[in-house]
Amino acid sequence: MDSITHLADLGYLVAAALFILGIKGLGSPRTAVRGNQLGAAGMFLAVLITVVQMQAEAGDAGVQWGLVGLGLAAGGAVGLLMAKRVEMTGMPELVALLNGFGGAASSLVGLAELVRLAPEMAAADGGDPVPGYALWRAVFLVGVGASSLIGWTTLTGSVVAMLKLSGKWNDKLALPGGNAVKALLLAGAVVSAAMLLGDPASTTWLIALTATSCLLGVAFVAPIGGADMPVVISFLNSLSGVAASATGFVVGNNALIISGSLVGAAGLILTGIMCKAMNRPFKDVMFKAYGAAAGSGGTGEKRTARGYEADEAAMTFDGARLAIVVPGYGMAVSQAQHVVREIADELEANGTEVRYAIHPVAGRMPGHMNVLLAEANVPYDKLYELDDINSAFSECDVALVVGANDTVNPAAHTDPSGPLGGMPILDVEKARTTIIVKRSLSPGYAGVDNDLFYRSSTMMLFGDGKKKLTELLAALKEL
Ligand code: TAP
Repeated sequence: MDSITHLADLGYLVAAALFILGIKGLGSPRTAVRGNQLGAAGMFLAVLITVVQMQAEAGDAGVQWGLVGLGLAAGGAVGLLMAKRVEMTGMPELVALLNGFGGAASSLVGLAELVRLAPEMAAADGGDPVPGYALWRAVFLVGVGASSLIGWTTLTGSVVAMLKLSGKWNDKLALPGGNAVKALLLAGAVVSAAMLLGDPASTTWLIALTATSCLLGVAFVAPIGGADMPVVISFLNSLSGVAASATGFVVGNNALIISGSLVGAAGLILTGIMCKAMNRPFKDVMFKAYGAAAGSGGTGEKRTARGYEADEAAMTFDGARLAIVVPGYGMAVSQAQHVVREIADELEANGTEVRYAIHPVAGRMPGHMNVLLAEANVPYDKLYELDDINSAFSECDVALVVGANDTVNPAAHTDPSGPLGGMPILDVEKARTTIIVKRSLSPGYAGVDNDLFYRSSTMMLFGDGKKKLTELLAALKEL
């Protein structure tokens, strides 16, 4: 190994350390911004080392700096535009899409290397190969096969997940199917990859591998119901890391192998945490297609719930000792987090303790509520996770549910075979009074009717979250 390779490996080690510290930082809202900056610094360092090493090794041929600059400018511009334009509510779709792009990029790099090196390999295969060639060949081709299979699957699976999240996927679309089709496609992709190992120059097997992998992604994600989409996205994130790692072996880049493995492991851990939070074994999420065509889960009968005015709701806080705010997706849509904090300030000024109950899958992405509440300067120590707050609802005077639905739906207990069956929920039904702010009686993401709306201890405040809470704040100030 020459000194340039040694230096590059040392630099990659520093980048890897920055990635690990970055991921550690992301574990808490308090350190998340710093974690993000450390991760970005690690990535910048890794890119810098890669191009400098390429320049040093390429000698007179040099690196095509114009192309590198063009790629950086185009990628940077698209990233900047997305970051500026995408609303918080669109973030999960963006994450899904970025996972898909990661998978596609890994596949493309792997295949480009295959096309570039296939003629040299054909010559080496026919001649007298240098020592170590057989091992390199095996690692290279297994890497290409794995990055293509996983990368293309991740791309199409992520696009379907994105369309589902944005409500643009038609769940009634009947795809030929079930687990038999998935197994067939997986077998087809593995066979194509194996055939490519034997004949690296074959375009037929290359196309077969790409096509079966793309179809596999669609076949896997399409039948999965909305309530399980967070698990799917996190799993796809993990897959995009595995694809990147495989590409790292193809191009012989240690930084890619390390960062890909980190993403793969982190995504898998998050997938496990979410499965636990939703009380669903991972195999059931992937193969049982819970609530794909979201059913009502209700009795089917038409029921009515009484709507209340903000001043009536404000009265329930009079003399309250404990109020628990339960935020959900509707808070994100209406951007009501700031007025939520103002209400909490007002209540605290009147002697009411205020806590926030955070369900692990509230909103549309992990940590969605934490991010919004942090933006509104809600102190972190007032945010409680499900297990830590559920016992407090029975002592709570008022539970204020802001645009949350599935995460408080008792159907999770009462309808075990329904789309929400078995998912742990926040026990707001145990509060003395539950105020629910939403625009209508329509169901949440999983499409399940919510019995809570019709209970005598529930007050429905119908309307846009921010508007209704602003009225509630005004009414509280007049008490
Ligand atoms: P949901 O069950 O989706 O309910 C959100 C509610 O917000 C809706 O019922 C809607 O009712 C209301 N809403 C929408 N716009 C509103 C507005 N402007 N003002 C007031 N309310 C508004 O939300 P949740 O309780 O947070 O549960 C999350 C669900 O999403 C779970 O099923 C979860 O599995 C799924 N999911 C989560 C993630 C992650 S990782 N968090 C990712 C994908 C999917 P109206 O239309 O009547 O207003």
